[in-house]
Amino acid sequence: KQAKMIIDKDFVIAPVDKRIYGSFIEHLGRAVYDGIYQPNHPLANSDGFRSDVTEMVKELDVPIIRYPGGNFVSNFFWEDSVGPVDERPARLDLAWRSMEKNEVGVNEFTKWAKEANSEVMMAVNLGTRGVADACNLLEYCNFDKGTKYSNMRIAHGVSDPHNIKVWCLGNEMDGPWQLGQKTMEEYGRLAYETAKAMKLIDPTIELVSCGSSAQDMPTFPKWESTTLEHTYDFVDYVSLHQYYGNRDEDSNDYLAQSNDMDDFIKTVIATCDYVKAKKRSKKTLNLSFDEWNVWFHSNAADDDITENHPWQVAPPMLEDIYTFEDALLVGLMLITLLRNADRVKMACLAQLVNVIAPIMTEAGGGIGWKQTIFYPFMQASKYGRGVVLNPLIKSPMHGTKKHDEITDIESVVVYNEELEEATIFVVNRNLSEDISLATDIRGLEGYRLLEHTVLHHENLKETNGPGRESVKPVAVDNSKVDSGILHSEIKHASWNVIRLG
Ligand code: AHR
Repeated sequence: KQAKMIIDKDFVIAPVDKRIYGSFIEHLGRAVYDGIYQPNHPLANSDGFRSDVTEMVKELDVPIIRYPGGNFVSNFFWEDSVGPVDERPARLDLAWRSMEKNEVGVNEFTKWAKEANSEVMMAVNLGTRGVADACNLLEYCNFDKGTKYSNMRIAHGVSDPHNIKVWCLGNEMDGPWQLGQKTMEEYGRLAYETAKAMKLIDPTIELVSCGSSAQDMPTFPKWESTTLEHTYDFVDYVSLHQYYGNRDEDSNDYLAQSNDMDDFIKTVIATCDYVKAKKRSKKTLNLSFDEWNVWFHSNAADDDITENHPWQVAPPMLEDIYTFEDALLVGLMLITLLRNADRVKMACLAQLVNVIAPIMTEAGGGIGWKQTIFYPFMQASKYGRGVVLNPLIKSPMHGTKKHDEITDIESVVVYNEELEEATIFVVNRNLSEDISLATDIRGLEGYRLLEHTVLHHENLKETNGPGRESVKPVAVDNSKVDSGILHSEIKHASWNVIRLG
């Protein structure tokens, strides 16, 4: 089978906002306790954070991390998480029916994020709390000094404000599982009033209005149009969340779901622009895809914990062990995000450590390890900085059960002017046939092949584990440039990174 592609430096979609490579840490399962933080671990630093985990986070180069939830935030009382640790109360986390010890809170997490070269995207509780508490947290975090909450922060040993720039106005407020779920009118009003007040405290912050929890929510996209009619003038982004799973054991159809993600993004863009037109506004709203990943392997085990074994400290929840095919879908989702970089300015791989995560730690304080999905994310974050180019692709197609005909080849190109490099990300989602890809690179005159790496395994269900990396990219000799054409052999079921410079 053969495919063709044309790349040109002038076919620009948009510059990549590096925050598209964000991630997420929630007080959930072993993400914080026994994940990033484990004071009795031999590799813990003086603050109790594991240096091996921080190093892996740095390898992913995650510029922004959403915190502290997720569903957790909708009953989070931030005051319980600050001040002398031994005076902090244990609280019932109703979202995950776990015990929250509050040993790590706003100040500890913000300090850790800095060490991991990351900024914090802070979410406020608009489930069981409201305008005043969101304002108090913002004053605590961002106001210099001389007020009740800024002085409280200083008394807690943090003299400089955290200057947190991005704030999420609640989490998945449309979901029946959410504590303090709202109707669209209720949420729209509350988010508008909260945004208005927060911007009075700190006009430099950026705010995210809560969108639908998933594309198949019954209120999508009316939720977006109604809530944005309230919040449009005061917010900078609307959020999207989406998780996929191979529940039907149909890998062919599973890998078609990045097309659904693309439809979801396009519909949210259309809805934002509808509200823009209705308001006769000059402002264009951007998208924050602040929860995305594969999530389904652990569902039954999690239900058992929440129903039958509640109130544990850091129970092993949402510990999906990812397969090779999950890594392919993650790669396809990254390509989809990049292809929409003109409107998707932030995105968070949900999540980062132990909970539906690229990075795992062994239970009981063992070693850290990298899941299959670590690698496409790491390579996109490392090489996908610059401007996104739209490759013109002519790909063979194949049939799927629920998605009709889809392309075999999915691709996007990122051009880094500073480094004078162009990186082509390619997935062949045909599960049995290799493809010869001829890419016209005459628009990149003088560029030579630097490297072609492939993530591939003959077993779609192959996983990694502690000290065992069966699924990781390897350099291959499958590309060559001849008279302005890059000829690449793209293996069936593979994620490819082809670098030119
Ligand atoms: O990321 C896990 C959960 O998924 C989050 O807490 C919630 O926002 C979403 O439903």
